[in-house]
Parts: sequence; structure tokens; C-alpha cells
Amino acid sequence: MEQLLRDFFLFLSKNKTFTKLARKYGLRFGAGRFVAGESLDLAVKKIKELNSKGLAVTIDYLGEFVDNEEEANYMADNSIEAIKAIGREKLNAQLSLKMTSMGLDISDDVVMRNMRRILDAAKDNNVFVTIDMEDYSRCQKTIDIFKELRKDYDNVGTVIQAYLYRTVDDIQDLNQFHPNLRLVKGAYKESPEVAFPEKKDVDDNFKKIIKMHLLNGNYTAIASHDEAMIEYTKQLEKEHNISRDQFEFQMLYGIRSERHEELAKEGYTFRVYVPYGTDWYGYFMRRLAERPANVAFVLKGVFGK
Ligand code: FDA
Repeated sequence: MEQLLRDFFLFLSKNKTFTKLARKYGLRFGAGRFVAGESLDLAVKKIKELNSKGLAVTIDYLGEFVDNEEEANYMADNSIEAIKAIGREKLNAQLSLKMTSMGLDISDDVVMRNMRRILDAAKDNNVFVTIDMEDYSRCQKTIDIFKELRKDYDNVGTVIQAYLYRTVDDIQDLNQFHPNLRLVKGAYKESPEVAFPEKKDVDDNFKKIIKMHLLNGNYTAIASHDEAMIEYTKQLEKEHNISRDQFEFQMLYGIRSERHEELAKEGYTFRVYVPYGTDWYGYFMRRLAERPANVAFVLKGVFGK
């Protein structure tokens, strides 16, 4: 049953009509639990609150699967506005973005032009940018773009998903760049031909890549709500004398919030992924797919508390 619900929400996450309706009618159905607000001003307010509690942030102007150049440029302009706000307000924050919102599905030229504009602005404002990883069909292209950009910019990183069979090879291959990588389990619906279908295998592979990337001496963001992964990282820290400057924990805004502050108080760098904007629909559906129990929040949103 749970698997069916998962598949259902992942299927819904790609529905273009619902995406457009959601954009038009504003944050609904409890999505406000996972999204900081529809405007940059609201996001900045939220970041200041989080920073005051000792939490770092990565901010994401929501959007994905853009299919025309005008919209891709508009998305890039909004990311640049966010970067400037981080610089102006002296926020402890980075930026995250999706390649499909920058024009990945349109042309190499559009996506590279937008990424260079963003990374130039980020460099001027001393902001680090992480390229989120999307579905498998875009994985190779995203990695190629990352490699190309990494030659010219040291303020860019990307994400590697533990559920893919190719992941260990990617970690090895990317080591030549000594990249700052965010490691995650993976949030999209993928075929068993490319991704481990069993949770246990994903968890084992996650541990494997955390260890590999840390022992390669690279900066590692462990992005997971899974206590077992946090404990495993702490164990590696002790066993291998890994400096706390070499890694951080990350979780999504609105999920296990009490744990964010606890880990920061324990002396770890903790970063909250804070999405904002009107394009919240696909992001929200993926969060429901991860934990169908969250549907209770949706029902409260529809029928009142
Ligand atoms: P798992 O799913 O095993 O969950 C462990 C426990 O965490 C659950 O038992 C539950 O208690 C809690 N939990 C997990 N999800 C929850 C939810 N939605 N609501 C409430 N509780 C929940 N993916 C991707 O493909 N590309 C990307 O770029 C990113 N980026 C990213 C950034 C950050 C900061 C995070 C934390 C995650 C991502 N992800 C991602 C998502 C990631 O791939 C994965 O889908 C989720 O983090 C869920 O997996 P966990 O590792 O949390 O473990």
C-alpha cells in the first residue's frame, strides 16, 4: 500500500496541469509546512530566523522542467536576486538549483549561459551554489555540466544519489575535482535497471559513498533525515579522526526541525534546505511520496484542523 502511495505521488509530481494550477492558486494543502513562502522577502525572513538559531541555510527558488528559454532566463534572474539578497543581508546561506529550471531540456547553450551568469553573481557575493540532482535521464548531463563549470568556478558543487548503481563510479570519477558534494538517497521514481529497488541496498550504498567521499578528503554534505546515517557519519568521524570542518549535515525545511537545532548545538555544521516560490507543487509531491504519513497534513489543509 505504502509503495502504491509513493508511486502515486511521484506520478502526480510530474503533472504539468496541476503544476500550473498550483502556481496560480498559491500555497495550499499544507505545502507551507515544507516551503518557506512564495516570495524572496518571506524566505529572507525565514533564513534570518534559522541563522539566529545557529543554522546555516541553502535557499532554492522552486522550479523544474522548464521548456522555454524565456522562463529559464526568468528562473536564473530569480536565483541571482536570491544571491544578491544573501550578500546584501549577510545571510549564512548558499543557493541550490535545478538544471531543468535553467534550461537543461532546451539547449546546452541556454543552460550554460544561465549557469555562468549565476556563478559569476555568486562569486561576487561569496555564495556557494549546489546543483541538485534530478531524475536518472538527466544525471549524466548534469554531471557533465558540473565538470565543465568546475573547471572555471570553485564555488559550485552537485548532488550524488545513493540509489543509483552508477554512484560509486561517479564518486571515484569526480574525485579528480575534489568536489564539495551533497550525498542523498534519491527522490525520483527510477527503474530497477538503474537504481536499487530495495531500501536496504540504498542505505548500504549511502554508507559506502559517505565513507568514500570523506576518506578521499573531500567536503561532504550528508543530506538525510535518517538517524542511522547521522550516527554512521559520527562513527566515521571518531574512527578516522575526521575534522568537523570537512562535513556537514543537511535536512529539508519542515522535516525533523527539532533535530536541526540539536545537531547544531552538538557543534556540527547544520544546513537547512529552504525552498520558496510559486512553483512548489512537484517539490511538495516528492515530500509526500517520501512519507505518505504526511498526507494527514494535506487532509488538514483541505478540511481544516
Ligand atoms: P528515509 O527516506 O529513509 O527517511 C528516514 C526517516 O526520515 C523516516 O523514517 C522519517 O522519519 C524521516 N523522513 C524522511 N522523509 C520525510 C518526509 N518527507 N517527511 C517527514 N519525515 C520524513 N534528492 C534528490 O534526488 N536530489 C537532490 O538534489 C536532493 N536534495 C536534497 C537536499 C537535502 C538537504 C535533503 C535532506 C534531501 C535531498 N533530496 C534530494 C531528497 C533525498 O534524496 C531523499 O528523498 C529524502 O531525503 C528522504 O530520504 P532520507 O535520507 O531522509 O531517508
